[in-house]
Amino acid sequence: MTTYVLSIDQGTTSSRAILFDQALRVVAVGQEEFAQHFPNSGWVEHDPEDLWSSTAAVCRSALERAGALPEQIAAIGVTNQRETTVVWDRETGKAIYNAIVWQDRRTADFCARLKADGNEPMVTEKTGLLLDPYFSGTKIAWILENVEGARARAEAGKLMFGTVDSWLIWRMTGGAVHATDATNASRTMLYDIRRGCWDEDLLKLLNIPASMLPEVKDSAADFGVTRPDLFGGRSIPILGNAGDQQAATVGQACFKPGMMKSTYGTGCFALLNVGETPVRSQNRLLTTVAYQLKGKPAYALEGSIFVAGAVVQWLRDGLQIIRSAAETQPLAEQADPAQSVYMVPAFTGLGTPHWDADARGAIYGLTRGTGPAELARAALESVGYQTRDLLEAMKGDWAAAAASAGETVLRVDGGMTASDWTMQFLADILGAPVDRPRVPETTALGAAWLAGMQAGVYPDQDGFAATWALDRRFTPAMEDGLRARKYAGWQDAVRRTLTRG
Ligand code: G3P
Repeated sequence: MTTYVLSIDQGTTSSRAILFDQALRVVAVGQEEFAQHFPNSGWVEHDPEDLWSSTAAVCRSALERAGALPEQIAAIGVTNQRETTVVWDRETGKAIYNAIVWQDRRTADFCARLKADGNEPMVTEKTGLLLDPYFSGTKIAWILENVEGARARAEAGKLMFGTVDSWLIWRMTGGAVHATDATNASRTMLYDIRRGCWDEDLLKLLNIPASMLPEVKDSAADFGVTRPDLFGGRSIPILGNAGDQQAATVGQACFKPGMMKSTYGTGCFALLNVGETPVRSQNRLLTTVAYQLKGKPAYALEGSIFVAGAVVQWLRDGLQIIRSAAETQPLAEQADPAQSVYMVPAFTGLGTPHWDADARGAIYGLTRGTGPAELARAALESVGYQTRDLLEAMKGDWAAAAASAGETVLRVDGGMTASDWTMQFLADILGAPVDRPRVPETTALGAAWLAGMQAGVYPDQDGFAATWALDRRFTPAMEDGLRARKYAGWQDAVRRTLTRG
């Protein structure tokens, strides 16, 4: 009888469940989209019940599709959209407010005040993050301040906080386990990434009771067992958990310092493994936990771009110049090469390295000859330019990365990497090779490996790294002068978009 590992990938726009067999091959996928709520400008929410019910549904459908029985599932691994914040009642198990999504900017003013009061150096020193609404801390504070009675209930120990992994694990275990892993904890702005614990000063700064917080575990650890009614009377152990970008780093087997991956989903997140000692960024990159195994964290420098794939969605749903994402590449290929159109997709502000929450999108270089093809090309190119911004910041930060700048290789994954044109442009503008792996489901694979390795059905770290296989390498072909001119044009466009100089 085949043994499987079930990987749950709860993302920003859909919940997915991917069943892997013993040879780490994808056997079946269940996927469901759920509603996005935009109650105010810059606000983004999810209904926590949608996150839960869609997750439960996709697990069932993945098993059904594979014809797999619950007793064949050796373990479950969880991976999730990070930072998104859920607060729920310990007794009723109901969330007291919608999940506030990572993209949500409602706490921008609060963050600005905390910054003006001189708190950012302390926050960065402890958490590796910056004072930005992106992270969970100020979102929890907002819920406690704005939901009637929440503050008193939290202080009485009646409320629980979790990122989406904790919320799902708590539900899956029937309320038996309130836990997270170090990668997810490192995105809350409440966790000291060096000491590996929740930080009293930060809790005090944001006025958050410690009783709300989940227990922090390794990324491969015992996260409890599923309640029997979920999988036909069978209790399946949950043995892996990591934030989606960290899971992709694991799935790409970026286990050695200097190895780097970039995932192109709604946004784009590049993580550079820096090893066992955290590196403090001078270029406004984040320092984060890449994964934690056997009590030992490995750290990464992270560049976070809020809009990558979402720019293609905007071409489809906002501008309506394409009907499906697949039309973007052929359209971009028809663009007039003589036109220099730049699109800065700052729809929800700009992340690394600018961290400008108030910036909004802009298009430059329009002429009377500009049409859908030039806009499509500018949209796809914006993803390459933004990745270059991240790489420049990384090289600036990490001497070892700068030293090896000549042979920096970027491992890529996510929906947009299916476009050969986009990947070639990426390699061209980076001036570095871009490697696309054979298994495109690297996020789910990372979570599956963590759980399967813990269960003893998958190989150890080295064995797993040896299974990573290349689909295609994109090598830079653009002439140096053109690369420099194009990138300078992008930098100028960004400068004109920023709200502060
Ligand atoms: O930090 C946000 C990130 O984890 C979201 O990823 O793939 O759900 O857009 P994704």
